[in-house]
Amino acid sequence: MQLFDSTEGIRSAVLENKKQGKTIGLVPTMGALHEGHLSLVRAARTCDVVIVSIFVNPRQFTNERDLKEYPRKLDGDLAILKGKCDLVFAPGINDIYGNSPVSSLDFGDLGSRLEGEFRPGHFNGVGLIVAKLFNIILPDYAYFGLKDLQQYLLIKQLVKDLSFPIKIIGCTTIREESGLAMSSRNLKLSEKGIAVASKIFEGLNIVKEGFDSGESIDNCRKRAAKYYERINGLEIEYLEFASEDLTILNDLNGAKEISVCIAAYVEGVRLIDNLYLRQ
Ligand code: PAF
Repeated sequence: MQLFDSTEGIRSAVLENKKQGKTIGLVPTMGALHEGHLSLVRAARTCDVVIVSIFVNPRQFTNERDLKEYPRKLDGDLAILKGKCDLVFAPGINDIYGNSPVSSLDFGDLGSRLEGEFRPGHFNGVGLIVAKLFNIILPDYAYFGLKDLQQYLLIKQLVKDLSFPIKIIGCTTIREESGLAMSSRNLKLSEKGIAVASKIFEGLNIVKEGFDSGESIDNCRKRAAKYYERINGLEIEYLEFASEDLTILNDLNGAKEISVCIAAYVEGVRLIDNLYLRQ
């Protein structure tokens, strides 16, 4: 496994591999790696060369404190990745933003709902870094977790709109035994916080039970509210039902796919999750 901290370095390694006709799979991350990231790395193994990028992207944080406190564990991450991927790209801030880019990406309705509503500017930052990584690394495939469903859909849109010759692969959310979706942010929770956070997925399953037994979206929403209001230490930011293009649903409206998406705070840590009710 080779580590690169500069754009030039990773680019020439990529070009060398491409010259030999090898396919490149990219797993973009912000580090503090866990089993969820490793599942993306495993999925990428169908490519000849697997590259993991590690960069805590300041442009996608909407809160200074959140950025400052985001877990950074480069040495541990490299130890975890050893033998599992081929190249790691861990650039410094100047390498990525030294030229102070001013371009911004507007994802229209898709970017302004759910996460976009509560974290204005977040997806602009995600779009910018992902587009940069795509141009630096020139992958054939890129892998994203479906825990960040909106991010995944938005990156697919980005690839389509900007004609990137890249296939985006969405990978199933990996969960703790308790059902808690794996996230680097879980590291900031106490043991008690983890127990509370695990109720998030339990609540989504309770919604699914109602949905499967034919309840309306309105009733499913009430069912969720009733369940979550009993959980001390859990503060729901939003719970929405959404169609395949993440249009918010108040009734079934002929939607092909339906997911329930949630954002919640536990011990001041913001967590998101989702569950397909119909796929
Ligand atoms: O999902 C993440 O970890 C980040 O949003 C990403 C895609 C690596 C961009 O910084």
